Amino acid sequence: MKRSIIFCIFSLILISTACNFSTPKPPYEVVQNLVGDSAMVVAEHPLAAQVGKEILQAGGNAVDAAIATQFALAVVHPRAGNIGGGGFMVIRLADGTVDALDYREKAPALATRDMYLDENGNVEESLSKEGHLAVGVPGTVAGMEQAYMKYSKLKDWKALLAPAIHLAEDGFAITESEASRLNEYKSQFQKANPDPIPFVQEAVWKMNDKLVQSDLANTLKLISENGSMGFYQGETADKIESEMKRGGGLISLEDLKNYEAKWRKPVVGNYKNYRIITMPPPSSGGIVLMQILTMLQRFPLKNYGFQSIKSVHAIVEAERRAYADRAKYLGDSDFYYVPVDSLLDTTYLNTKMADFDSMKATPSAVLGPQVKIGVESYETTHTSIVDQTGNAVSVTTTLNLNYGSKVIVQGAGFFLNDEMDDFSAKPGVPNYFGLIGAEANAIQPGKRMLSSMTPTIVEKDGKLFMVLGAPGGSTIITAVLQTLLGVTDYGMNLDQAVWAPRFHHQWLPDVITCEEAAIDTTVRKQLWAMGYKLENVSRMALIKAVMVLPDGKLQGVGDNRNPDDHACGF
Ligand code: DON
Repeated sequence: MKRSIIFCIFSLILISTACNFSTPKPPYEVVQNLVGDSAMVVAEHPLAAQVGKEILQAGGNAVDAAIATQFALAVVHPRAGNIGGGGFMVIRLADGTVDALDYREKAPALATRDMYLDENGNVEESLSKEGHLAVGVPGTVAGMEQAYMKYSKLKDWKALLAPAIHLAEDGFAITESEASRLNEYKSQFQKANPDPIPFVQEAVWKMNDKLVQSDLANTLKLISENGSMGFYQGETADKIESEMKRGGGLISLEDLKNYEAKWRKPVVGNYKNYRIITMPPPSSGGIVLMQILTMLQRFPLKNYGFQSIKSVHAIVEAERRAYADRAKYLGDSDFYYVPVDSLLDTTYLNTKMADFDSMKATPSAVLGPQVKIGVESYETTHTSIVDQTGNAVSVTTTLNLNYGSKVIVQGAGFFLNDEMDDFSAKPGVPNYFGLIGAEANAIQPGKRMLSSMTPTIVEKDGKLFMVLGAPGGSTIITAVLQTLLGVTDYGMNLDQAVWAPRFHHQWLPDVITCEEAAIDTTVRKQLWAMGYKLENVSRMALIKAVMVLPDGKLQGVGDNRNPDDHACGF
């Protein structure tokens, strides 16, 4: 009893430190490769990662830290961190219990299957990506509340929101990358928002400029006081509804009131002596990842060598086949039967690889139009956390594209997502990421759109081994795959695996997209000779990972592709 009182007092002191969170100025000392003795948070912004760390130091567990980090990201990383979007959280407790939380956005009740088609049946592309019609019913706040109710150790909701409120209310100094994005999107912000918003200023944004978000601070206070009711009902809900009316969006008060985050059974599978715990539908991430890994089991990748012709060929052929299944079979399993067990069945997957020809590329089964993948930089956001007692959380959240629909809820201060673009607007017509879908991912009221987010946790010999995930649209799955293979098969350290150049194939378009350094000239020539097409892209998904080292210490690694990725631990 006495011990617990002392602990409570100690925690309170530390929490108040977290609330008085002092905001340093950029250039922040970003750390992208760190070894800690007992706890680690890797997130997409130094201030948000710091919030997570302070919550751990205040006695919170990994779930508490994840919640506080998510709310902080909604303030300091507005292009992806959010309360107007959704995401997925995979949890592995120190005792081996695993869980998965789905707080993906849902189509509003008034959504219809053909809502993005014009009178000739063609997709009106911009409608699902920009403006009010692109918005799905947000899930983040409900998700954070569910995670809190089931797993919080701190049992102090307000303490988890306090750092975010502070950052929004008092402001913080923006990084160079944020400044450049705010400048880049200025005209789109103005187009979507007739009233002044804090993200638009007369002068050009520069690193170190202070961003104050008073309306967002008030919204976060309502959530702090009232939990998810502070978002889905009352003042905030009214403001969302008015915003929808202003811009011709579909989300109603009923949609908001009815939103529910859901606990799901994680996808769990084995790869060599590793056990992979990852996200089930409505994300495609877990199933596609496990399909690829299972198809690759029989290939001696280590002997082939990293990014050798044999390795690239085997990996691409497995990717191609898994993404073809994604297009056909995957969608929200609450609405459409997803044959998860059959899709993950080893015999089925071996059969799929039976026509693998070691000398030739297999043309993608159905050659659709050569679709172009969007080139917008990757702006979802992932956080990987391990706490002092060995609980692990892998959480990915998004507004979809940069700053989502670009629409701010007037008076409430947050961006709304453009997640509706992740539905298949029309069978065979690619979305922003070039992904094709059909019936399984068609729009229906209340349905969740298919995702590629792949928050993942890996065990080795029954013990926690790795926590990882990434933003990056359709390339998330293959980035998680390659990071994992870097460590499990190619003998890399975590930092080498995260920072190594990557390549990607998603069935359609039938092309290997790659970072230039991922495939050398000799291998490129060999791939061309085998019938492959290659296309260079400037960067792929941005991995954030934690690995348990042989001595029990934790290595946290952020992606060197993103200057703001930050690992902090103790
Ligand atoms: O859920 C998905 O798969 C996408 N909305 C994720 C988008 C993303 O990673 C943004 N990056 N470009």
